Amino acid sequence: MSQTPAIQHYLQFSDFTADEYAHLLARAALIKKKFKAYEKHQPLVDRTLAMIFEKASTRTRVSFEAGMYQLGGSVVHLTTGDSQLGRSEPIEDSAKVISRMVDLVMIRTFEQTKIEAFAAHSRVPVINGLTNEFHPCQILADIFTYIEHRGSIAGKTVAWVGDGNNMANTWLQASEILGFTVHVSTPSGYEVDQSIAGLRSSDSYKVFKDPMEACRGADLVTTDVWTSMGYEAENEARRAAFADWCVDTEMMRVAQPDALFMHCLPAHRGEEVQAEVIDGPQSVVWDEAENRMHVQKALMEYLLLGRVA
Ligand code: CP
Ligand code: NVA
Repeated sequence: MSQTPAIQHYLQFSDFTADEYAHLLARAALIKKKFKAYEKHQPLVDRTLAMIFEKASTRTRVSFEAGMYQLGGSVVHLTTGDSQLGRSEPIEDSAKVISRMVDLVMIRTFEQTKIEAFAAHSRVPVINGLTNEFHPCQILADIFTYIEHRGSIAGKTVAWVGDGNNMANTWLQASEILGFTVHVSTPSGYEVDQSIAGLRSSDSYKVFKDPMEACRGADLVTTDVWTSMGYEAENEARRAAFADWCVDTEMMRVAQPDALFMHCLPAHRGEEVQAEVIDGPQSVVWDEAENRMHVQKALMEYLLLGRVA
């Protein structure tokens, strides 16, 4: 009796090995090259991606939707407000139904447990398009962008300035898998929690009270909004707590002279980053945003077709 191959999901960065990342990053480079040359790359003809958004999005929606069409497939877009998800249909039932009709599902939601419950009842691969805990597609794009500009990230230092949020947790996971160091500086009360990232040890990251010290000697300085989606009620308290966690030209000055600046966007100039930094010469935020599409095309191809040459 033939066995159905196990479905592989992408729910957090630690779902893939360093070897799988080497493959994905190489495919993403090839796929991007073809895109730039207007060369068709359509391995997913007749495949459908369902995108489920329980939170707002610009980049994730456009990059997955445009990316899937470019691969020859099509997409279905669902939100909480316009589907039965917003009327309390159980997540498990939704997963069973949706995954009978499409080949791949991307979900942006709140708790990681929700996407895990969906995946457990899905017949097709599920991709995390952001949860409260993780944002793996973004870090995949960030690492691809770093490599494009500076070569391998192994052995390098990434400074994380700001909230111990979904992006920070995902950077921590990536550092352990890909062999780089993260310098983390958060206000007190907003620290990263190693148990959420599920790290084997604390060897790949270092905590700094002073954001300037976290940036000293860093190869990449990165930050994110003070208030993530879903935490809006804490906005006022966060604005007070995070006032010193604004990436400014002084922080960039103590980093390596060729340090890059990244931000997953959307950004708030004058809050987590100075306009001079995000709009300055070390910033690669537009490449970073574009690269979401190229890496996710490689990811969708991999989840549906495996290691194509
Ligand atoms: N960086 C990111 O995920 O952007 P969106 O919220 O616009 O999708
Ligand atoms: N940490 C942010 C990232 C947005 C892309 C959020 O979760 O809202």
